[in-house]
Amino acid sequence: MSKLWGGRFAKSTDVMVEEFTSSISFDSRMYSQDIAGSIAHATMLAACGIISQEDAKLIIDGLKGILADIEAGNFSFEVSLEDIHMNIEKRLTECIGAAGGRLHTARSRNDQVALDTHMYVRGQVAEVARLLFDLEQAILDTAHKYPEVIMPGYTHLQRAQPILFSHHMLAYFFMLERDFRRLGGVWESADIMPLGAGALAGTTFPIDREQVARELNFGRVYENSLDAVSDRDYILEFLSFASILMMHLSRLSEEIILWSSTEFSFIELDDAHCTGSSIMPQKKNPDVAELVRGKTGRVFGHLMAMLTVTKGLPLAYNKDLQEDKEGLFDTIDTVKFSLTVYAAMLRGMKVNAGAMRQALKTDFSNATDMADYLVKKGLPFRQAHEVVGKCVAYCLNEQKTLTDLTLEQFKEFSPLFAADITDAISIETCVAARNSLGGTSPTQVGQTLLIAKSVMDKQQKRLDMYTKTTL
Ligand code: ARG
Repeated sequence: MSKLWGGRFAKSTDVMVEEFTSSISFDSRMYSQDIAGSIAHATMLAACGIISQEDAKLIIDGLKGILADIEAGNFSFEVSLEDIHMNIEKRLTECIGAAGGRLHTARSRNDQVALDTHMYVRGQVAEVARLLFDLEQAILDTAHKYPEVIMPGYTHLQRAQPILFSHHMLAYFFMLERDFRRLGGVWESADIMPLGAGALAGTTFPIDREQVARELNFGRVYENSLDAVSDRDYILEFLSFASILMMHLSRLSEEIILWSSTEFSFIELDDAHCTGSSIMPQKKNPDVAELVRGKTGRVFGHLMAMLTVTKGLPLAYNKDLQEDKEGLFDTIDTVKFSLTVYAAMLRGMKVNAGAMRQALKTDFSNATDMADYLVKKGLPFRQAHEVVGKCVAYCLNEQKTLTDLTLEQFKEFSPLFAADITDAISIETCVAARNSLGGTSPTQVGQTLLIAKSVMDKQQKRLDMYTKTTL
């Protein structure tokens, strides 16, 4: 296929080099952004008197025809035409003749690819936000489904203090809520219109960049042409957002995997969301959670790769920047798939309140409450800690728990113990007593669920804005 830039060359490109430098195998997914961007560009060129209205009409109709062809599967992408931009432009000229050659006036592929990628990322932010919202909803639904279930809370993966299961779920909700906000930051960075920067320095034609920005619903235009073609921050920000989100999902996965083990038995995943073993007939493996945990690695890798690609680059465009797309696209696909399966998995998850309760019966999760009890009777906390530590050591020796001790036995450790100690260290009391702001008491968790609801209402408005802008 003859090159759009062939004029200067005496030899044709080595086939191997064509294959090496081509990006069509992955950037073809930006075809609709490329066409929308070209339509806005041609419209502006005509409005500014840079091309004729007739040529603009031919170009726009031609581009619409190409869009329809691609969507109908009637377009063959050529490696020799390197990328999506030249594949479409070449076809346009084949379809409409010389007018097609006017489309690239006052434009370079450098600002064109930046425009396409900004639009693509903006669209994907809208889709990812919707899936993230749904996962947040699934987490809230899970919390609402088991309002009274108490489980051991852990530090160092050692039982620490009893907490409401819904409190644990809400912790993940707020992690994802921050992810949603970070995604909003990605949106802001992607919502800047680069076209008109030309190759690097702007253009000699009297273009109207604001018009293109309006046509494509951009909030802002780049202030500096070099920055416009060199900036990949919005991609780095997406990858950072995605890395943190995946890290969150990976932490939840780790807990789900542990909880579904026989040793914990705190939850049971739906059969539909697990897989079996080809050799061990009894196995039911939490593959979804494991794979999300595993896929977190490649997303981190894409962030590292992109930081490394950009770190030594001089301004403005360098071919290295073509490496921005595969990692970005893979991250988008990975995040979207992970969010989708995760929400389904959580919705199918059953909580085994009995196993959680059983775990709490045989541990010392109420030891802090026992110390707090003594403090409320006047003992300094450090001394109370020491007294309870001795009780725990005694119980461990006798294979008892704190609630097994009689009042007489308690009194041997401290005369401050009275009959009300039994109630003070019951699991329900321990949970209800943690009524400080943001604590695990049912009152606090009830309040937090209300806050979560209002967060979701706000996010819904944001989703509506995304949808409206990317339509
Ligand atoms: N395929 C290229 C990319 O993805 C488009 C920009 C090419 N620009 C250039 N001057 N070679 O980065």
